Amino acid sequence: MDLLFQPFTLRDLTLPNRIVVSPMAQYSAGNDGHVTDWHLMHYGTFAASGAGLTVLEATAVLPEGRVSPNCLGVWDDAHIAGLKRVVDFFRRPAGGMVGIQLAHAGRKASVAPPWTGVDALTSKDGGWAIWGASDCPYPGREAPIAPSPADLERIADAYVAAVGRADQAGFDLIELHCAHGYFLNNFLSPLSNTRQDEWGGDREGRMRYPLEIFRRLRAAWPAGKPMGVRISATEWVENGWDLEDSVVFSQRLKDLGCDYVALSSGGTSPDQKIAVGPGYQVPFSEEVRRRSGIPTVAVGMLSDPQLANDVLEAGQADLIAIGRGMLFNPRWAWHAAAELQGTMRVPPPYLRCHPSMRNLPR
Ligand SMILES: Cc1cc2nc3c(=O)[nH]c(=O)nc-3n(C[C@H](O)[C@H](O)[C@H](O)COP(=O)(O)O)c2cc1C
Repeated sequence: MDLLFQPFTLRDLTLPNRIVVSPMAQYSAGNDGHVTDWHLMHYGTFAASGAGLTVLEATAVLPEGRVSPNCLGVWDDAHIAGLKRVVDFFRRPAGGMVGIQLAHAGRKASVAPPWTGVDALTSKDGGWAIWGASDCPYPGREAPIAPSPADLERIADAYVAAVGRADQAGFDLIELHCAHGYFLNNFLSPLSNTRQDEWGGDREGRMRYPLEIFRRLRAAWPAGKPMGVRISATEWVENGWDLEDSVVFSQRLKDLGCDYVALSSGGTSPDQKIAVGPGYQVPFSEEVRRRSGIPTVAVGMLSDPQLANDVLEAGQADLIAIGRGMLFNPRWAWHAAAELQGTMRVPPPYLRCHPSMRNLPR
């Protein structure tokens, strides 16, 4: 059987295959962060998709940490019941495993859903004051508030409380969002962190807060459940965070008990020049995996099943995350299994759909 369809174990969690549905914000929550019918349809589809793991979209640990007013939240105990309904889909036969991406949008918070054509929201149209590592703005947007040491404690407490809620909702895994120019990425990047205290300065200082958050979350999450981190391996701008920084950060995360790093890129600067193409972020995954020894998730234009499997076979990643390809074809895993050497996991009511079973009498 091809590697894409072989199980992969992280702590006590065994994924039935190496296919991951990448976290994808739906901008479809109520304006109070709650799960809606849209999420039940969307994640229900992926629970029946055959993917070994689905990671829920960026879910805000504080209301001001939402990207848009319609982003999912986990800052209140009242969010648990809706999230549990989503998790329950994955407990049905052939359902895969399910994780949640814990997020705070930092200096890129308070914007409208992307399809509206509106960017930053003002307080008049439902926007709010935003927070960053320092008061350095994302170009063209308002300056964020630089958190005081007391604010940093309060925000850390919100992350830890969110972990408790994720556990109560029944998630199998947590992915901490440190990518795409959001709050924890704001600390890592020299372009968004101009702090003069222990949480800024050289790379060691800039890594300190994200590492501290990871350390506290890991301690609050059951020991048998895995926790990974998504990072932007490079910012694609001169003098920004780069691959060398990502290797060092991944080594430090590994020492703290991180189970995997997912290698995305960009998001800090509008000046980024990204060389996009099939598998364009795979070299980041390969380098981090080889030099830090941590399992990696490769992502980014990997929806050709043969390419996805080749990346695994070449030792460039341990898991393959698919984003847009999964929206386009939620049965991606089934079709990949039919194209390659693999088996597909199908919920019992759908069993008769397999091409080999379609000639049976009804
Ligand atoms: C609609 C949409 C929403 C996304 N939301 C998130 C998100 O919430 N968190 C995240 O880390 N990445 C997010 N991403 C990035 C994807 O997870 C993925 O890294 C990216 O789309 C590249 O993979 P692909 O070429 O397979 O789509 C989003 C992408 C899309 C298309």
